[in-house]
Amino acid sequence: MRVGVLTGGGDCPGLNAVIRSVVRKGAQEYAWKFVGFVDGWSGAVNDVTVPLDVPAVRGILPLGGTILGSSRTNPLRLDNGVERIKDTLAAHRVDALVVIGGEDTLSVAAALADTGVALVGVPKTIDNDVGGTDYTFGFDTAVGIATEAIDRLHTTAESHKRTLVVEVMGRHSGWIALHSGVAGGANVILVPEVEFDVDRVCSWVENRFEINYAPIVVVAEGAVPKAGQMVVKDESRDAFGHVRLSGIGDWLAREIESRTEKDARTTVLGHIQRGGTPSAYDRWLATRFGLHAVDAVKDGDFGTMTALRGTDITRVPLAEATKATKRVPEDLYAEFDVFFGT
Ligand code: F6P
Repeated sequence: MRVGVLTGGGDCPGLNAVIRSVVRKGAQEYAWKFVGFVDGWSGAVNDVTVPLDVPAVRGILPLGGTILGSSRTNPLRLDNGVERIKDTLAAHRVDALVVIGGEDTLSVAAALADTGVALVGVPKTIDNDVGGTDYTFGFDTAVGIATEAIDRLHTTAESHKRTLVVEVMGRHSGWIALHSGVAGGANVILVPEVEFDVDRVCSWVENRFEINYAPIVVVAEGAVPKAGQMVVKDESRDAFGHVRLSGIGDWLAREIESRTEKDARTTVLGHIQRGGTPSAYDRWLATRFGLHAVDAVKDGDFGTMTALRGTDITRVPLAEATKATKRVPEDLYAEFDVFFGT
């Protein structure tokens, strides 16, 4: 059996741990051969491959990024994209594909599976917004990085008695903002799922100053003010049609400063949240996803995605997992109201 592996979309810590466990189990238990497609769907469309075997995956478990490279290439938007992928798979005599990606990469996988391509998906993303799974790998590392940043920002905010706004990633979902904001003891947390009222944010900020502490405001990059437009630095879009975000943190700090007449600064964490070594939990989850992806291929259970439900790894149809983005429920967000402005 020959199995192709690719990693698509924004990278995240733990991708190499999946690649390693897929190759180790496939090669050691079933004597499968592997081929790596370079830069996600781009490698499959343009026939760019790298050899993938057990020696190639030695030592990569703690390594951030992906040894296969990644891109946001969308083959469904390219002329004959699907046919070109099928030609590449045939040329390399690939019997099955393991696709490691987020909602965009997995939506392409779902479409390809519908046309008969034998593949299994593995959900990755720091955003934790893939449907059908409790968690994606990469999320825990990103939350850890953001939480450490918030811890550090508390002390400098206190020294200067100023507001510090922390912009974290998450364009459609506020999982990173909510988890890191709660873990870091933020005084305001703003998520894309719930439009915010700038007046209310400023009253929380004022309140925090009144009790003699400096406010920390955590805002997801996709959070939007009430009756407002998304605040973006530019309007360019990627191949999946997503606007490139960043700007809400700066905008909010300026608003807070002018309305409260107290100093405010912004820290945009950006790609720091995606880089570097995966947490122990992400290595654990990524490794388990990889092992179970091999089981799914072995069972011929194609068109499915590995998923975490509780502590079990299960399989869900890709079509179901990619139907909708997993968003923060409003009642979960509301649980933390008590900490806002205090
Ligand atoms: O999809 C993961 C993610 O990190 C999002 O949180 C963020 O909005 C986006 O990728 C940034 O993408 P890029 O690195 O392509 O600018």
